[in-house]
Amino acid sequence: MRISGKARLAGIMGWPVAHSRSPALHGFWLAENDIDGAYVPLPVRPQHLEQALRALPVLGFRGCNLTIPHKQAALSIVDCVEPLARRIGAVNTIVVGPDGSLEGRNTDAFGFYQSLRAVVPDWSAKAGPATILGAGGAARAVIAALADAGVPEIRIVNRTLARAQAVASDIATPQTSIAIHKWDEAGAALRDAGLLVNTTSLGMAGEPPLVLDLSVLPRSAPVVDIVYVPLETDLLGNARRRGHPIVDGLGMLLHQGRPGFEAWFGAPVRATPQLRAAILATLAPPR
Ligand SMILES: NC(=O)c1ccc[n+]([C@@H]2O[C@H](COP(=O)([O-])OP(=O)(O)OC[C@H]3O[C@@H](n4cnc5c(N)ncnc54)[C@H](OP(=O)(O)O)[C@@H]3O)[C@@H](O)[C@H]2O)c1
Repeated sequence: MRISGKARLAGIMGWPVAHSRSPALHGFWLAENDIDGAYVPLPVRPQHLEQALRALPVLGFRGCNLTIPHKQAALSIVDCVEPLARRIGAVNTIVVGPDGSLEGRNTDAFGFYQSLRAVVPDWSAKAGPATILGAGGAARAVIAALADAGVPEIRIVNRTLARAQAVASDIATPQTSIAIHKWDEAGAALRDAGLLVNTTSLGMAGEPPLVLDLSVLPRSAPVVDIVYVPLETDLLGNARRRGHPIVDGLGMLLHQGRPGFEAWFGAPVRATPQLRAAILATLAPPR
């Protein structure tokens, strides 16, 4: 790593932030490209978010990522919000302009879509309906990505119907119809689907398991789980044994970092197997 007096600076704001893999991710790319720069964790309490964001240009930061609990609150603080972030309702990337203004972007939709295309390049948006489990923050980005890719029908399956309805009205496009299904109708929502994505926290280490009968899901349909601890969730294990193409959540994490890095540090970066191995090593449980 190279840090001179002219180093380019970025970081991740969250509360807490110590769990974040983003410093390892951006640190890998900084070293790989021999860039004079640093990407640091920025623990910021919710009540200090505005002060901290306004300090970025003062301190010479090029920008930052945002994580829990700041992604929604930042929408009303930054000077300009890109339309996709506005539609998703969350900002995860801030870019400081030459005049010190703050632009809010969302790169989770890009990250999800790139991770799907990287593993299943022949997947077609026209392959059939996409079934999405969950309607939280991550689901909003996934659903926006799929609607913008031209998926004609999206089925949202969520425990809380009102939350799914809000997602449908915020994110639908004229080309994409969005249907809402009750949680206990998940099986029926898999019939004839061309893609299944779990965006709930079910199946994540420490959370309840995701119990789902995949028998009516066409075997050609890719199954994506955006949970990445464990890397192969029970859902992905079942899907793999049934012969579905499977996509784990680590790819989304890696790809969502690319646009921010490119904006702050000025070099194009890729989610290579070496990067994946390096970040995977940080996810291993301590011995
Ligand atoms: N790979 C990546 O880059 C990436 C990026 C972002 C998030 N994630 C992962 O995605 C997951 C969701 O994150 P988020 O930010 O979207 O969280 P969130 O906004 O809190 O949403 C959680 C979702 O899970 C559902 N859920 C939680 N417990 C449930 C249960 N017992 N039964 C049924 N549904 C349940 C919620 O349903 P209700 O609406 O009914 O509460 C909601 O749809 C997390 O595991 C997170 O780590 C991964």
